[in-house]
Amino acid sequence: MPCKTKSVCSKLQQHRCKYQPVLPAILQKGPAAVKAKLGKATKSVADQATVKKMFPNTYGLPEITFVKGANSAVAKKAVRVGVVLSGGQAPGGHNVIAGLLDGLKKANSKNKLFGFLGGPSGIVDNKFIEITPALMKDYRNTGGFDLIQSGRTKIETDEQLCAAKDNLLANKMDALVVVGGDDSNTNACVIAEYLKQQGVDVTVIGVPKTIDGDLKNAQIETSFGFDTATKIYAEMVGNICRDVNSARKYWHFVRLMGRSASHIALEVAFKTQPNVVLIGEEVLAKKMTLAQVVDYLAGIIAKRAEMGKNFGVCLVPEGLIEFIPEMKELIAALNDMLSDHEAELAKMTTVAEKKEFIISKLPAKLAALMKSLPAGIASQLMLDRDPHGNVQVSLIETEKLLVEMLRVKLAEMKKAGKYNGKFSAITHFFGYEGRCGVPSTFDANYTYALGYNAAVLALNKCSGYLSSVRKLTKKAKDWECGGIPLTMMMNIERRKGKEKPVIRKALVELKGEPFKFLAKNRGEWALTESYIFPGPIQYYGPEDVTDMTTITLAFEQAKKRK
Ligand code: FBP
Repeated sequence: MPCKTKSVCSKLQQHRCKYQPVLPAILQKGPAAVKAKLGKATKSVADQATVKKMFPNTYGLPEITFVKGANSAVAKKAVRVGVVLSGGQAPGGHNVIAGLLDGLKKANSKNKLFGFLGGPSGIVDNKFIEITPALMKDYRNTGGFDLIQSGRTKIETDEQLCAAKDNLLANKMDALVVVGGDDSNTNACVIAEYLKQQGVDVTVIGVPKTIDGDLKNAQIETSFGFDTATKIYAEMVGNICRDVNSARKYWHFVRLMGRSASHIALEVAFKTQPNVVLIGEEVLAKKMTLAQVVDYLAGIIAKRAEMGKNFGVCLVPEGLIEFIPEMKELIAALNDMLSDHEAELAKMTTVAEKKEFIISKLPAKLAALMKSLPAGIASQLMLDRDPHGNVQVSLIETEKLLVEMLRVKLAEMKKAGKYNGKFSAITHFFGYEGRCGVPSTFDANYTYALGYNAAVLALNKCSGYLSSVRKLTKKAKDWECGGIPLTMMMNIERRKGKEKPVIRKALVELKGEPFKFLAKNRGEWALTESYIFPGPIQYYGPEDVTDMTTITLAFEQAKKRK
């Protein structure tokens, strides 16, 4: 709710609306004082020949770094730019728009910014509003995407692409800025390529958004929203740690959002030091079965019980289920099946009917696995995929599955004399709670810089680029700015039963510094109460508290500096 109506606007919001984000020094004099320095031609992370063939016009572009230099050309002609928020909400989306607006207006006060409504479908359906400085005023530094909302529509069919092109042309747009995660930015590149193929001079720029933290590489150090979301989850997990340590009678299982990658779970673990954190990428590397994951947890629970500690906290990444090889195989088979038999399944009215049909079509091994799963989990696995073909892991209650299986396992161990404790478990899912939080100072500055930087890329007609702001562990004024070709991050993956070009997700690297730190310390965390209580995000106060970045980033940057 805008601050205009002070009665429905919190005191914090009133103060945050006035916060002026720190712009990197290179952008402070405006787009006309910035020039693009081109690096070497790039190639995609994998499947180069195929990606090049699919993106003949946007493949191989050079990396861009912005440097000081007169560039008055960008200020001459007034431009019209559209912006769209795509996918899941992430704290800081409004500041991307604010940075974009300020960058455009600084170049030429006649430049105009329009927001497509409800995500990419707004482009196809031609629904948009003008974002004026007066409208923007009350949304600065606020969480949420409510200024123009978001959506998960993928612009992919010829009709959708053609409608998008026609609407961009009819509205005389010079550029389109897509704020999204890996799938949405892949889609941005598809649109950029299509427009170039059609000879349409509309620049398409991406902005790296996702709380999941999996849109990163050597040049994109982190996606926006990861910092704030992990701080919010860590506050709640820290509070639970203090509660278990006070009551000493429950085991808490907390599933944390993050889709496939376990970055959120890992970062929250650094911030709180719980007894256990499962990392999906490790489970995959060790080819662990579901039973082995349960055995591992039961081992820790039993050891703590021997010490008289029938309590603890366990973090579970929401994508865990997709990393267990047998489950991964089942999910892949279900993905193909749901897409191949879409029409037949749509006619079935009950979950039992669908389950029976699917089981009859699965190979024997997978059919047996599907049958062995608790009914709730089996039906959650059969839910519709999102428009990009992803399983909606946020709807699969893995934490409950683990607790159910642990109850059985611990009862068996008790019978065999290997466990003599008491297991009372409480489950949680922290996901949506963190996606629209008031952006931390880091995210407020980062998103504003990303938006402003996207304006500079748009004014320089750098189509097919992702806005890149780097050196993020330094002070905001020292951040570096530029653009990274979207095709550079692509590879080919199987989606909805077909081979598709997609931006490769950055998963937790088991050889990376963040995971190594966990591996070194988790033995101690398991058996002690080394809990850390980070408390709520601070917006005012000492700089080392207000401006701190994530621990993951700090580990990754320290490695680079060596
Ligand atoms: P994005 O990749 O679009 O940023 O989405 C992130 C996310 O929050 C995931 O962590 C989660 O699995 C998913 O969105 C939930 O999707 P929905 O909002 O459609 O329920």
